Amino acid sequence: MATNQLFATKKLNDLLAEAKGDDRLKRVLGPVSLTALGIGAIIGAGIFVSTGSAAKEVAGPALMLSYVVAGLTCIFAALCYAEFASMAPVAGSAYTYAYCTMGELFAWIIGWDLVLEYAVGSATVANGWSGYFQAVIAKVGIVLPKELQSAPIKFNHSAPWNDFAAWFEPTGSFVNLPAVIIVAIITAVLVKGISESAGFNAFMVGIKVFAVLFVILVGYFFINPANYEPFAPFGYGGFSLLGVKDLSVGWDDKAGKPLGMLAGAAIIFFAYIGFDSVSTHAEEAKNPSRDVPIGIIASLIVCTILYIGVVAVLTGMVSYKDIDKNAGVSSAFKEAAKVEGISPLMKSILLSSEVIIACAGVAGITSVLLVMMLSGPRVFLAMARDGLVPKAFFADVHPTFKTPWLSTIGIGIFVMILAGLLPIDALLELANIGTLFAFAVVCAAVMVMRQTNPTAARPFRCPLVPIVPILGIALCILLMLSLPVGNWLRLVVWLLIGLVIYFGYGKQHSTLGKSLRNETAGTP
Ligand code: ALA
Repeated sequence: MATNQLFATKKLNDLLAEAKGDDRLKRVLGPVSLTALGIGAIIGAGIFVSTGSAAKEVAGPALMLSYVVAGLTCIFAALCYAEFASMAPVAGSAYTYAYCTMGELFAWIIGWDLVLEYAVGSATVANGWSGYFQAVIAKVGIVLPKELQSAPIKFNHSAPWNDFAAWFEPTGSFVNLPAVIIVAIITAVLVKGISESAGFNAFMVGIKVFAVLFVILVGYFFINPANYEPFAPFGYGGFSLLGVKDLSVGWDDKAGKPLGMLAGAAIIFFAYIGFDSVSTHAEEAKNPSRDVPIGIIASLIVCTILYIGVVAVLTGMVSYKDIDKNAGVSSAFKEAAKVEGISPLMKSILLSSEVIIACAGVAGITSVLLVMMLSGPRVFLAMARDGLVPKAFFADVHPTFKTPWLSTIGIGIFVMILAGLLPIDALLELANIGTLFAFAVVCAAVMVMRQTNPTAARPFRCPLVPIVPILGIALCILLMLSLPVGNWLRLVVWLLIGLVIYFGYGKQHSTLGKSLRNETAGTP
């Protein structure tokens, strides 16, 4: 019986029946709002912040190819997400899909992993927001005290994995205050409600798409093809088998991690995270089986095209070596203005562009934070309805606002702590490995579901199954192996904490587990 519960699956029909219950979220989102939510979740700190450091230190101009590899990985995963989202349009995303296909234990692991993705991802984005915000206020002469500018520690990748103390280096700061404040503000907006949040998001998305197009269209005129040479200064590799140097391609001893085009893809993969959060809003979609796949795929395609344009401009305007790590895109315009012989008119265009992009960057990153922080509580909501986490807290939908308010506040506090105290690169890598793991599971789940429920209605079918899901899984694993090895350790620790909670609470309280126990008790 114990074994049964761990591998017992939730029936698709039960799921669809539940979706008709009355404590459901309001159905207010159409295809345009969902695509906007997707774009709102996708374009943010990844392109505005981490692209700069990835081009400078990991991949050079070959980062354009990194974006193609990461984009391809996401497209395979997106097709699988879209099939599931159209079959089972309820909150919970990959967690729910795993529950229907691989059983309760696996579902728990994925739900717990998704919370990591959204919480750590939100903290990463809040950190990136803080960098851009501080760049903007510096333009009007405001500089925060050093103690309030950033996290108190940074990670040292070259430290041996078993020397815990050497992992951290003090920065001289005390807390990243702007990051904490923006998380608090967004939490308040989300507690108030989804309709308002979607309207606010649409406004922010407009500003951000404008900023990205502006970068591409203005930056295009300042490209110097000489900057594309060498195209791949760190090589095309960047892959390590759990830190074993002899089995690595592009290992760099000084950095303590692999470098190159593939390693770049593993970092900027973060820039694509977010399309999956569209599926967590399936329950709020007016016509989920049609609109959710549209939202996922349309937002991903739009962003892939824009990203490749931005990286081509960024690495074409300045030598990859001169890119600013903290605000790469906006400061490329400042760097380009320093080129000798440039006319005063061009110089002023470049300098004013820098300010416009930095301001739009702040707005753009804000909208990512909004969508990411919206998603975590919805995964917990789905888990709470199944009894795996306490219902009274995580499934408490506010009577007036109709939002999962308590869990929104709880996750908000957790994100504030992470955002205030941890450095952006460590947060980003952890969010990436967690997300890649979830994507691989969704790809596998599509194949399982085709076997176990072959006749279920699939308003959207992933093409070329099993080739697409298998390619998705292979690319996710490749990118996971291209991340610094410490991330595997952190992911395993997080999953172990999750297992302790599952065996200590979830397993006893699970609705499915209880019905299995009742069935067994009733059997003569
Ligand atoms: N894709 C999101 C970003 O880049 C998470 O900020």
